[in-house]
Parts: sequence; C-alpha cells; structure tokens
Amino acid sequence: MDKRLIIAIDGYSSCGKSTFAKAIAKELKYIYIDSGAMYRAVTLFCLRKGYIGKGIFSLEAILSDLQNIHIGLIYNPDIVEYETFLNSENVEAEIRGFEVSNFVSRISQIPEVRSRMVEMQRQIGVFKGIVMDGRDIGTVVFPDADIKIFMTASVDIRAKRRYEELKGRNIEVDFEEVKRNIIARDIADENRDISPLRRADDAILLDNSRMSVAGQMEWVRNIIAAKRNGS
Ligand code: DC
Repeated sequence: MDKRLIIAIDGYSSCGKSTFAKAIAKELKYIYIDSGAMYRAVTLFCLRKGYIGKGIFSLEAILSDLQNIHIGLIYNPDIVEYETFLNSENVEAEIRGFEVSNFVSRISQIPEVRSRMVEMQRQIGVFKGIVMDGRDIGTVVFPDADIKIFMTASVDIRAKRRYEELKGRNIEVDFEEVKRNIIARDIADENRDISPLRRADDAILLDNSRMSVAGQMEWVRNIIAAKRNGS
C-alpha cells in the first residue's frame, strides 16, 4: 500500500485552496481539513457572544470562553462535502458570510486561539492521509509535511472567484467590497506577529491564475508520484 502522506496547502485568501485540496483528498481518499473554517467558527462564536463586533474586542471574555468552543469538521456523504459544526450546530453557511469574513483576521491573531487550533489540527493529522489547507500548515502545523504547496493568484481573479462563490450561495455582495476584504485579509495574514502567512522554504509555488482545477490536478499528480518514488 502507498505510504500515507500529509499534504499541506497554504496561500492567500480565495486562491482556490479548498477546491484544490478537496480534489486531492477525494482522489487519494484522504481526509480533507479546511483550517480556515475552524478560525471562522471561533469568530462566529465570539460574534454571537458579543465578544467582538464593531468597536468591540473583549480579549478577556474570548480567552475565558475558549475552552467552551468545540469544532467538528464532518463529512456529509449526501452533499459530498465537509461541514463545520460549532458545539454540535451546523454553521457551515453562517461562517462563510460577510460578518465572519470581516472579523476572522482579528480572531486569528490571538495566540491562544492559534495554539488551540494548531493542537486540534495536529491531532486530526496523527494518522496521516490528510490534506489540510490554511495559512500556516506547512510552516507551523505540519513543518514535516510530505508535500507543501504555496498557492497564489492575482487579486482580481481571487476577488472574482470569491464573488461568484458567494453569489452561488445566494449571498448578496458587492464586487468591490469582496476585493477590499481580500486585500485587507492578505495584509493582516502576512503581517500578524504570530504565524504570519509565508511560503515555507520547502514549499512548491503554484500560481493558478490561469489554471483549471483539472490542470492543477495533473500538476500535483506528478508531484505526488515523484514523492512516492523517493525523488
Ligand atoms: O481560508 P479562509 O479564508 O476561510 O480563512 C479564514 C481566515 O482564517 C483567514 O483570513 C486567515 C485565518 N486563517 C489562519 O490564520 N490560519 C489558517 N491556518 C487558516 C486560516
């Protein structure tokens, strides 16, 4: 049997990381973990509790309630997708909304939140056979991952993809607002003090601005085969 791998995919917001990671996981019959969904679920929890909001940021309240946040990423065979659960409630739709997107960078800057998420992510990965996407997977969560990919694409293409995705989910948004949110999150992700978004030295760069998912799969199959052949 083939050796089970850990595949880490990092990169900028709305690069198509999750589409790509899901397709790899499906082909290899691996678990797929969307680590961004975990930060989004924590953000939703804090928004609902009123710990964060316009002009509000109560770090003390967030930290004191952190132990009460339980996140599950559960595969739903009916829709052939993973769904995010927050304390047993399916929050998949809500965590993709604009309010969560606007506050998630603040929440993901909190060291205690990050260490809790990283611990959960490592636990999920103990048996390998996993594809995880995020911002710090190849640098912090799995620095020894078998394959590390760092994805990027132009801002306009990413904004267009996110806009189409939200429209597809019947979420009303303005294109320019989507673009502004992506730019703001790039800046926040790259400049935060703890685990900033950066390409690991041994990550392979993938600019998919002009690549289809099929093209990306062809590309990654070669990388997986090379890894398995020991090169
Ligand atoms: O992948 P995404 O856009 O759904 O992620 C939401 C936010 O979570 C993103 O703005 C940065 C943060 N994040 C992070 O800090 N570390 C990760 N491993 C994944 C996401």
